[in-house]
Amino acid sequence: MRKNNPNSLVVAIDGPAGAGKSTIAKMVAAKLGLKYIDTGAMYRALTLKALTTGIDCDDAAGLMELLAQSKFEFPVANNVGSPAILLDGRDVSALIRLPEVSQKVSRVALVPEVRRELVRIQREQAAGGGIVMDGRDIGTVVLPEADVKIFLTASLEERARRRYIELQRKGLPATLEQIKKEIAERDKLDQERKDSPLQAASDAICIDTTGFSPEEIVTQIIHLCAERGER
Ligand code: DC
Repeated sequence: MRKNNPNSLVVAIDGPAGAGKSTIAKMVAAKLGLKYIDTGAMYRALTLKALTTGIDCDDAAGLMELLAQSKFEFPVANNVGSPAILLDGRDVSALIRLPEVSQKVSRVALVPEVRRELVRIQREQAAGGGIVMDGRDIGTVVLPEADVKIFLTASLEERARRRYIELQRKGLPATLEQIKKEIAERDKLDQERKDSPLQAASDAICIDTTGFSPEEIVTQIIHLCAERGER
C-alpha cells in the first residue's frame, strides 16, 4: 500500500467453501470503495464453459484453449447485488453456482496450467492496488505482499447449512447431508492438491465466522484495514 493512501489497500481473503468469503469480501470492498475480485468465480466460469462446450474437466490442453478464448470482467462492487463476474460479456453469476459446476470445479482448479494463467490474470487485476480479492491461495500465492490477509473459517455443519439455505432460496433441490458430503470432498481436494493447496498464510489473521453475522465479521475486517492504514 502507498503510504497514507487507503485507496491502494490490498486485502486478501481466503478460506474453505461456505466460510462466507464472497459475501464478506464484497461487503468490505463496497464499504472501503475498493475493487472486488472473486477468484473462485473465475474457476467456476471456466468450469461452466467446459461443461457447455463438452471439454473434459481434466483436459489441460482443452481448458487452456478455452481460457485463451475467454474474457473475464469484474464489475465494480458498488452494491452487494452487482454481478461478481462477466464471462465473454455475459453475467454468469447464477449459472456458476449451479450444482453441476460446484461438483466439477475442484477438478479444474487442480490443473496447474489453468492455475498459472488465472493467477497471472488475478495479479494483473491487482496491479494498481485498491482491491479485495478472495479465494484459496490469495495470501499465500497470488498476493503474498497483501496489506491485510484474512483466513475465514466456519464449522462444516455451519458451512453446509449456509449453502443449503442459499440453494433452497433459489429453489434448487439438495439435502443437507448431500451438501455436507460435497463440501467435505471439496475441502479435501482443495487442501491436498500439490499446487497451491488451501492453507492460511503464516501472517494471516484467522477469523471463525460460526455464529456471527456477515456484518459483525465485516466490522472486524474494516477495523483491521484501518489499523493497517495507520501504520
Ligand atoms: O470459493 P468457491 O467455492 O467459489 O471456489 C470454487 C472452487 O475453485 C473451489 O473448489 C476451489 C477453487 N479455487 C481455487 O482453487 N483457488 C482460488 N483462488 C479460488 C477458488
